[in-house]
Amino acid sequence: MKRLSCGVIGLGRLGFKHAQTLAGRIENVRLIAVSDPVEGARKSFAERFSSVETFAHYQDLLARKDLDAVVIASSTNTHGIIIMDALKAGKAVFCEKPVTLDMQEAADIRKTLAATRGFLMIGFMRRFDDPYILGKKRIESGELGDPVYVTCISRDPAAPPIEFAKASGGLVLDMCVHDIDLARWFLGGDVSRVFAQGGVLMCEELKPIGDIDHINIEFAFKSGRLAHLEGSRNARYGYDIRTEVICTKGAVFIGDLRQTACVVLNQKGALTDVVPEFRTRFDKAYLTEMEHFVRDVLEGKPSSVTLEDGIAAVELAFAINKSYQLKAPVDLA
Ligand SMILES: NC(=O)c1ccc[n+]([C@@H]2O[C@H](COP(=O)([O-])OP(=O)(O)OC[C@H]3O[C@@H](n4cnc5c(N)ncnc54)[C@H](O)[C@@H]3O)[C@@H](O)[C@H]2O)c1
Repeated sequence: MKRLSCGVIGLGRLGFKHAQTLAGRIENVRLIAVSDPVEGARKSFAERFSSVETFAHYQDLLARKDLDAVVIASSTNTHGIIIMDALKAGKAVFCEKPVTLDMQEAADIRKTLAATRGFLMIGFMRRFDDPYILGKKRIESGELGDPVYVTCISRDPAAPPIEFAKASGGLVLDMCVHDIDLARWFLGGDVSRVFAQGGVLMCEELKPIGDIDHINIEFAFKSGRLAHLEGSRNARYGYDIRTEVICTKGAVFIGDLRQTACVVLNQKGALTDVVPEFRTRFDKAYLTEMEHFVRDVLEGKPSSVTLEDGIAAVELAFAINKSYQLKAPVDLA
């Protein structure tokens, strides 16, 4: 069996998980190296996976000739430069969302990808989540008619750590990119107008860094289809991710507040748990996403989530932020 030799860049909340997945949950891959400038992150990884080489500088990881591919899960403001360096080093690349925080850098990544004829997949893992896959399949079968309206709710239980938030691009680029991508994925075609309203409703600590904790976004597509997206850090009850796709002959409702399919009934009422956070909710999706990455690179297939998907979401995120700042709709060319 051919195995892909892979490295992970960034060992934070998600990078550590991707590294664990590649080290032990997928057959046709070998995790051989990881990198993070923070010594503590490297140490706690090395304690668990002593045979994997650790690097403080990602450039040294990329210099390993026997490395075929890298997974980039470093802080968001480092994605663009690391993607380009990895492509130039001849590695196949998976990069977490958002692909970049800068449209000029997006153009540079596009040029580098074309010049190197490399492989780049963007981490929109909801496309690999079983309920989303099932919903998409049922819509594509035609049985529900045409999808005409999407509504997406993404609510985090709290604001992210402030150091993370500073490098993240803010609520829209960090969180709403997932729903921007889903709206495009379900409805197809281009968005012609966006309108957004938001602010800080609860997380006062975000104000000094210019971030917000709530946004309501309206999309009008060129086709006339519509989408409503809500992004929030204010769900103190848990991690709340839901999507509804209304079609001309029916609908699909995706997502559930419950993590465990058990309802406890007592004299006070009915009790269930609530999904606590993203790694729990999307555990299987992250695994499936990594399996796709490894398989597509090994089999020489094109990327299933392309750079253009990543750039389209970032471009829309910028338009949303502009609308929020202007307090007015923004038309897209
Ligand atoms: N797809 C998803 O659902 C999802 C969920 C969470 C995070 N993310 C994305 O993943 C990325 C990481 O998020 P996180 O929550 O793990 O953040 P985090 O802050 O926990 O971890 C980021 C890590 O990157 C490291 N890092 C910074 N610069 C680096 C460099 N030059 N080389 C190597 N490592 C570097 C940091 O030291 C830190 O350990 C972000 O871009 C985020 O948007 C995606």
